[in-house]
Amino acid sequence: MDKFVIKGGRKLTGEVTISGAKNAAVAILPAVILSDEPCIIENVPLISDVNICICILTEMGAEVTMMDKNTYRIDPTKICNFCVPYEMARKMRASYYFLGALLGKFNKARVSMPGGCPLGDRPIDQHLKAFAAMGAEYTLSQGMIDLKANKLHGCQIFFDVVTVGATMNAMLAAVRAEGLTIIENAAKEPHIVDLANFLNSMGANIMGAGTDVIKIRGVEHLHGATYAVIPDQIEAGTFMAAVAATKGDVIIKNVIPKHLESITKKMEKIGVNIEQYDDSIRVWVDGPLVKANIKTAPHPGFPTDMQSQIATLLTLAEGTSIITENIWEQRFRYVDELRRMGADITVNGKVALIEGTGNLMGAPVKACDLRAGAALIIAGLAASGITEIEDIYHIERGYDCMEGKLRALGADIEKVSVPDKADAKNSEIKKAI
Ligand code: EPZ
Repeated sequence: MDKFVIKGGRKLTGEVTISGAKNAAVAILPAVILSDEPCIIENVPLISDVNICICILTEMGAEVTMMDKNTYRIDPTKICNFCVPYEMARKMRASYYFLGALLGKFNKARVSMPGGCPLGDRPIDQHLKAFAAMGAEYTLSQGMIDLKANKLHGCQIFFDVVTVGATMNAMLAAVRAEGLTIIENAAKEPHIVDLANFLNSMGANIMGAGTDVIKIRGVEHLHGATYAVIPDQIEAGTFMAAVAATKGDVIIKNVIPKHLESITKKMEKIGVNIEQYDDSIRVWVDGPLVKANIKTAPHPGFPTDMQSQIATLLTLAEGTSIITENIWEQRFRYVDELRRMGADITVNGKVALIEGTGNLMGAPVKACDLRAGAALIIAGLAASGITEIEDIYHIERGYDCMEGKLRALGADIEKVSVPDKADAKNSEIKKAI
């Protein structure tokens, strides 16, 4: 198992380039299945969730060529297997996008219940509601979801909750369905718009993505396309928090400032200076950090995927901050780990009270999910002393070479391989025999 070892207290300075958006890439890659010709996808982040998508596509029979570390040519025309292997699918949440893509193209799909970050209950009832409204039947057995349809037809769907995944999946299933599909109470995240733009570049007819009503008129064929994934707003936000936590000064390149609006507004309230350019921002701190109240909400609200990172920043701010997590039931699990570093945080249900102590101390900690791991990196960068972060496979699911980018900004961080405890035990036993 690998871990990060961070010697804290160094300011981040210089320039960093943001990679493609994880939550867009993991929907766009399965969406290639819907095409009748090969596609080229550019600006794909080099992360393990993408690797899983590529393995699943290959397993299905698609021909995948890695043209460079961020570009793939994918030919879906030879897909002959409509089942996503259990062991692969359960490793990430986004495996459920193969349901919508396979159903939309072949009127059938078999995928295991998805995995992903342990954030509490993560139902998929709204996904299944959308598929059923289009004429599909589903069964659930042995942890596998089986979908079948004679023919998908347009329909009207009103989601009971704003859901990114179900909005994406409804679009994937509807683009080749017969007739008009109207999705109401749709999610509006930038990655929703990115998927719609990719599908439209293949000849789909999607209107309204980015608003809460999306209209999709089904088409018979989708042609190939070359498409670049948008920059990752959450990676950008994570670096904003890291620069602020170390009182650094960094130009963050390859961003879409509009996607960062809610994050930028809160950072400025906390005392972070931000200057915006066309596709980059300058982030620096030259004064005290002050408390803030954060409430997570669907886009354009403050993103839940930035909650743990900004909480870490607020442990360094003066005063008592309040964070209300409105999306996930269990997204404060990182708090126990921050407490090991001296953070003073009280959690009561969906509300966390953060007493800004102004400083953190290095300690051995564990990443419990993707964004919690990012928060611990930020804490380690700002802390005095050494921080060791275990279970960094969570972080590598969604951040493209995080340690390399941070080192280039002056951080003292390295990835160290640690023999797996079981292996170490076995080798002890072997020595003893
Ligand atoms: C996506 O998860 C992201 N993951 C999550 O990012 C992100 O936290 C979340 O959207 C919210 O923005 C990917 O895109 C791969 P939802 P998803 O469906 O689609 C409820 C990260 O860190 N709900 O928008 O699973 C659900 O319980 C990850 O990158 C239902 O009730 O989230 C939640 O309370 C973590 N029924 C709310 O809706 C359903 O059928 C939002 O969930 C679906 C969802």
